[in-house]
Amino acid sequence: MGEELVSRTQVGIVGAGPAGLVLGHLLHREGIDAVVLESRSRDYVERRVRAGVLEQGTVDLLIETGVGERLQREGIVHHGIELRFDGRGHRIPFDELADGRGITIYGQQEVVKDLIAARLDAGLPLLFEAEALGVEGIDGDEPTIRYRYEGRERELRCDVVAGCDGYHGVSREAAPAGALTQYEREYPFAWLGILAEVAPSTEELIYAYHENGFSLHSLRSPSISRLYVQCDAGDELEQWPDERIWQELHTRLARDDGWELEEGPIVERTIAPMRSIVTEPMQHGRLYLAGDAVHIVPATGAKGLNLAVADVRVLAGGLVDWFRSGNERLLELYSATCLRRVWQTQNFSAWMTAMLHRYPDADDYQLRLQRAQLDYVCRSRAAAASLAEQYVGLELAQTKSSV
Ligand code: APR
Ligand code: PHB
Repeated sequence: MGEELVSRTQVGIVGAGPAGLVLGHLLHREGIDAVVLESRSRDYVERRVRAGVLEQGTVDLLIETGVGERLQREGIVHHGIELRFDGRGHRIPFDELADGRGITIYGQQEVVKDLIAARLDAGLPLLFEAEALGVEGIDGDEPTIRYRYEGRERELRCDVVAGCDGYHGVSREAAPAGALTQYEREYPFAWLGILAEVAPSTEELIYAYHENGFSLHSLRSPSISRLYVQCDAGDELEQWPDERIWQELHTRLARDDGWELEEGPIVERTIAPMRSIVTEPMQHGRLYLAGDAVHIVPATGAKGLNLAVADVRVLAGGLVDWFRSGNERLLELYSATCLRRVWQTQNFSAWMTAMLHRYPDADDYQLRLQRAQLDYVCRSRAAAASLAEQYVGLELAQTKSSV
C-alpha cells in the first residue's frame, strides 16, 4: 500500500453502494472532492446480488454522466410486465401507458462494478475495508468521520458528510436523540430469491398472485433467471431444498395455456425480509443521509436502487450550488425534496405488496378485495396506467440547481 491517505475532503461519503458511488461520481464531474469509505472488500461489494430493475431516469443519468456504456450493451430494455393470476397472464404495456418510457434489467452489482471501475480509473479516493466507526461534529463546520483502515483508527475531516451506508450503517446514529423520526412496517412474510443457470422462461417479468403465495419470474441475462417465492417471515434456507423451490414456482406461476417454467442449477439463494422504513428528516446539520440508510422499501416495486440514485442526484445538485456560490437554498430543501419521492414510492411499493402477497391472517373478504384489485388493474386503462407510470418511475417537478 504505502499510499498517502487523504485526511481532509469536501464531502466524506460513507458506503460504496449505489448511493455513495453515484454521489461520488456526480460530485467529481462538478469538480468537488470526495472520499468514499466502504467497510466491505471490493470483491464482496461487486458480488452481492441485489435487485436488477433500473427506472428510465436511473438509466438516463448513468448514460448521460458517462458510466452507461456496458449498461447500454448488456442491459435488457423492457416495455411491460405481466401480472399472472387464476392461470392467466395480463400484460401491462408501459410503451402505451407511460409515454414510451421503460425499465432496464441490469443487476445492481453490475452498476456498482461500473461505478467502482470509473472511480478507480480516474484515480479518485475509494477505500475498501475502511469501516466508519462514527461521525462527529455534524453541528459544526467540520464534521469528521472516524474510521478503521489497515488496523489503525483514522479521521477524515470534511465540509459535509454523506451517510450512504445502508440500513446497517452508523452515520444515522450521529444525529442527536430525538432529531430523527422513524416510520416503519414489518410484513408477515419474506422473499426467497434464487439465481438459476437457465434461460428465462419469459421475455418480460411475471408478477404472480397465487393462493400459495406470491412469486416473481425475473432475469439477469439470456442465460440467467432470477426467481422469487414468498415464504414465511421466519423461514430458513434449510427449509427450502431445491425441489420445494421449483415445486412452488411451478405451482404459483402455472398458466392454463401450457406455458412451462424451465429449471436449471441454482447458483445463489437468499431470504430477504420485507419491510418499509422511512427516517425523517434526511439531514441534520452537516450530515446528509441517502438511500437505504434512511429508507427501505419492500422489493415488490423494485425501487430501492432507484430511490437511492434519486436522493443523491438531489444532494449533488444542492452541494454543487453550495460549494460554487455559497447558495444554500437547494441543500436546505434536500430532505423535503427527497421525501416527496420517498413517500410516493413507499405508497407504490406498499400497494404492489398488498395486492400480490398472501397474508397469513387474510380472511375471505380480504382475499376477494385483493382479487377485485387485480381485476381492476388488468381491466382499467387508468388503473394500469397508474401502475405503469409508477413502475417506470414518477416524474416529479423539482427545484432546479442554479448552476
Ligand atoms: N462504514 C463504511 N461502509 C459501510 C458501513 C460503515 N460503518 N456500514 C455499511 N457500509 C456500506 C455497506 O457495506 C454497503 O456497501 O455501505 C454500503 C451501503 O450500500 P447499500 O446497502 O447498497 O445501500 P444504498 O447505496 O443506499 O443502495 C440502496 O441497495 O440495499 C439495496 O435494495 C437496496 O437497491 C437498494 C440499494
Ligand atoms: C429482480 O430482478 O431482482 C427483481 C425484479 C423485480 C422486483 C424485484 C426484484 O420487483
